[in-house]
Amino acid sequence: NWTPAQIIEDQVSRVREQVGDRHVLLGLSGGVDSSVVAALLHRAIGDQLTCVFVDNGLLRKNEGEQVMETFASHMGVNVIRVDAEQRFLDKLAGQADPEIKRKRIGNTFIEVFDEEAAKIDGVDFLAQGTIYPDVIESAAAKTGKAHVIKSHHNVGGLPDTMKLKLVEPLRELFKDEVRRLGVELGLPADMVYRHPFPGPGLGVRILGEVKKEYADILREADAIFIEELRRSGWYDKTSQAFAVFLPVKSVGVVGDGRRYEWVIALRAVETVDFMTARWAHLPYELLETVSNRIINEMEGVSRVTYDVSSKPPATIEWE
Ligand code: XMP
Repeated sequence: NWTPAQIIEDQVSRVREQVGDRHVLLGLSGGVDSSVVAALLHRAIGDQLTCVFVDNGLLRKNEGEQVMETFASHMGVNVIRVDAEQRFLDKLAGQADPEIKRKRIGNTFIEVFDEEAAKIDGVDFLAQGTIYPDVIESAAAKTGKAHVIKSHHNVGGLPDTMKLKLVEPLRELFKDEVRRLGVELGLPADMVYRHPFPGPGLGVRILGEVKKEYADILREADAIFIEELRRSGWYDKTSQAFAVFLPVKSVGVVGDGRRYEWVIALRAVETVDFMTARWAHLPYELLETVSNRIINEMEGVSRVTYDVSSKPPATIEWE
């Protein structure tokens, strides 16, 4: 029964011993696991750590700025931000199949990350935010036991061509322990207790073909939903909540004309293990506020719906 402070102290000395005076590369996504690794390694080895943050254009509103502010400005971590939005959009153009979209996003991420890594001299180690459940899951996948429904690319994304040694300081920890480490390391509570966000990001929350126009609308709608959930205290009562972009046009009356615009679906669930989930019984007043704000403050959305499907059979994401 170790305290977070003891685990940090232990890992800091283990990392120092493993790495010596050599250089470590980390793919920073802004998610809890890679963020905690960044903070931990920064404490252990300071400037010997370089993080690469790939902005794929499928992130939530202000996410890139927040990552840079927290790590680069605030903590003084070396972070290289790669603006790869156009590259991801090009790879996704014309693609409507969810699994193909996932693969393209995952592969493009690896390509971009590899290219950036090649520009940095003298890297010997690759750090990863692997946590204990990931270790179990990928072990199960290798023996064929796991029923792999979706091609998650969080684990096993290490390209074979990169002959780097791994640094995985969270390998023995569960998610709640990782969160407590994050708090102890001084990461903002908002970041540490954030809902999970899929690797392919908004790419799987825009149904069918991904376009910049859609991503921009979705980012705005999602930000309004999350802001109202936080304001009302419902963010922490739900396990995951987000907006989904539906590429269908629905009528709205504006002035004396009929205008056909996009539809936004809201999804909020309560779950313990993400294997089953119940749709969150959000108050009508909250849904009303969110809907009014999205329709009145934004261009291009005529209708908002709330998803009342539980898992199974409906998955949490719409793709
Ligand atoms: P589903 O939609 O399968 O989601 O009920 C269960 C959990 O997994 C997340 N999810 C993903 N995470 N890459 C990820 O890293 C993916 O492709 C992916 N698809 C779903 C989802 O957000 C939820 O937390």
